[in-house]
Amino acid sequence: MQHKIKRIGVLTSGGDSPGMNAAIRAVVRTALYHQIEVFGIRRGYQGMIDNDIFQMDSRSVANIIQRGGTILKTARCKEFMEPAGRKKAYYHLKEHGIEGLVIIGGDGSFRGACALQAEHGIPCIGLAGTIDKDISGTDFTIGFDTAVNTAVEAIDKIRDTMDAHDRIFIIEVMGRDAGYIALHSGIATGAENILIPERKTDINNIIQSLQEKERRKKMVNLIVVAEGDDFGGATEVQKKLEENLPKAEIRVCILGHIQRGGAPSCMDRVIASRMGYHAVESLMEGRYNVFVGIQNNKMNYIPLEAAVKNKGKISDEWLQIVRILAS
Ligand code: F6P
Repeated sequence: MQHKIKRIGVLTSGGDSPGMNAAIRAVVRTALYHQIEVFGIRRGYQGMIDNDIFQMDSRSVANIIQRGGTILKTARCKEFMEPAGRKKAYYHLKEHGIEGLVIIGGDGSFRGACALQAEHGIPCIGLAGTIDKDISGTDFTIGFDTAVNTAVEAIDKIRDTMDAHDRIFIIEVMGRDAGYIALHSGIATGAENILIPERKTDINNIIQSLQEKERRKKMVNLIVVAEGDDFGGATEVQKKLEENLPKAEIRVCILGHIQRGGAPSCMDRVIASRMGYHAVESLMEGRYNVFVGIQNNKMNYIPLEAAVKNKGKISDEWLQIVRILAS
């Protein structure tokens, strides 16, 4: 007979994303419903190393579903990348009698979970929480929808002033390794060019089309660039365009961390709640060392080691849509 898990730990790790609180709430309340005790671990793996671990109850997660950030706080922990750090973390988990972990974060956090499991046998389950949506095997990650809507709202505003002045605007959105925020927000705001890490940027082609526009005296142009684009981000693009289009007025706006904050969208709250619920159910069923994703509106359990970056997987159809609709 399978051993019934009695105590679990929950943590958020890596870059925060809107909806992480909704996920924590779902994990805590589902576990308590099944008479499983829950311990919160502050600042991700760092809190595990520092023994910053506390018991949670239903009230600990009251009134947080609508809040951005994470009540557990988060960190990118270098010490946990070393076996010695993981050993320290494991002893603290043992001290608290924690028999399973729910890790809300991105692929880096999942890699940490794999190592902890392999070295110390702690069952881990991941919830895909990152604004970048750069994890394969899930159609959504917690926070992406909110981040992309934040970007769209900001770009719409910029478009007003861009249009009023007949300017070229280059807007940089987040996405170190993945272009999903750029692609979605760019399509939704009618951007003429979208530059993403998954495709080599042909800057000369962009220059030619802008020179052609200049000849037609139509100098309004919106370019959305992911921070990890191979050409080097918005400032580099601006420099290159200014060299080749001396008459154009070119402005840059880097949206930055605004994309990580704010109240989670309805969509993010719902997927976080579903994923959090299923994470606990899955641990109880003895299915772990997977992360919970959603594909075709169904829960999908993907081995943690497979949660590698989705880089290069953007289909050409998306870029074709950008080209045709912007013409
Ligand atoms: O992984 C999420 C993310 O927001 C990336 O898009 C971005 O490059 C990075 O985190 C920024 O990290 P930090 O907040 O540590 O500067």
